[in-house]
Amino acid sequence: MILSTRQMLIDAQENHYAVPAFNIHNMETLQIVAQTAVHMRSPLIIAATPSTVTYAGADYLVAMAETAAQTADIPIALHLDHHEDIKTIEEDIDAGFSSCMIDASMLPFEENVEKVKKVVAYAHRYDVTVEAELGKLVGIEDDVTVEAEDAVYTDPDNAADFVERTKIDSLAVAIGTAHGLYKGKPKLDFARLEAIRSRISIPLVLHGASDVPDELVEKAIALGICKVNIATDLKIPFSQAIKKYFADNPSANDPRQYMTPGKEAMKKIVEHKIKVCKSAGRY
Ligand code: 13P
Ligand code: ZN
Ligand code: NA
Repeated sequence: MILSTRQMLIDAQENHYAVPAFNIHNMETLQIVAQTAVHMRSPLIIAATPSTVTYAGADYLVAMAETAAQTADIPIALHLDHHEDIKTIEEDIDAGFSSCMIDASMLPFEENVEKVKKVVAYAHRYDVTVEAELGKLVGIEDDVTVEAEDAVYTDPDNAADFVERTKIDSLAVAIGTAHGLYKGKPKLDFARLEAIRSRISIPLVLHGASDVPDELVEKAIALGICKVNIATDLKIPFSQAIKKYFADNPSANDPRQYMTPGKEAMKKIVEHKIKVCKSAGRY
């Protein structure tokens, strides 16, 4: 059975590691993250943005995640990542998603609070966990684009107020990471992360973890991050390996053959990210 993220994030918080949330797009990418997590005995969050739900279909995603969870002896959650539309979230919860992120971070504080409260009221009826974001991450993530000048870091005092009023289960923080790749080396505001951690008790989430040096992600986990979101670092090797396969085999036309090197390339990076999260061998 797919589970909410409640128990797995509490365990991560208590034991100072992070649960990886891998963005998937189709059966192949879902299989790779599930098989690798099972093999390494890591808890897993399978994440789908609105574009992924539109592309693959909520029912298919739920069925595939349920199939993965049926035989897995690790906890698996199926999570709606960066969803902005309340009605769509409710429909996807009805379809079987076990966790969601309501991203109202672009709204003024009070409107963010009101929107998140509505999602929490619905989701908690079905024991579905809710993540929300305060502050704004730079970069492009499928359906969300934020320019550098519009980025806002999470304010620790607002964060405490936000968590208390919304009753969310986890909080995504903006501390200097960005969606996608970085122009230079990312600078993370660890003092801010510590200040946020000291003011609120629920699990904290790091978005934009692709292209962040491992040691910075590890430090963020040591300072209280319990969920790490990874998308771009998986997409690139998957696509590169398939491109190479076509370059080497220009007449290839069998998806089972050209997808396979993509899956193998993705498996390696998933293994590496699980190590960085220190989530292997927990179950
Ligand atoms: P990256 O693409 O930088 O890994 O960001 C992933 C993310 O935050 C998904 O919500
Ligand atoms: Zn994100
Ligand atoms: Na990133």
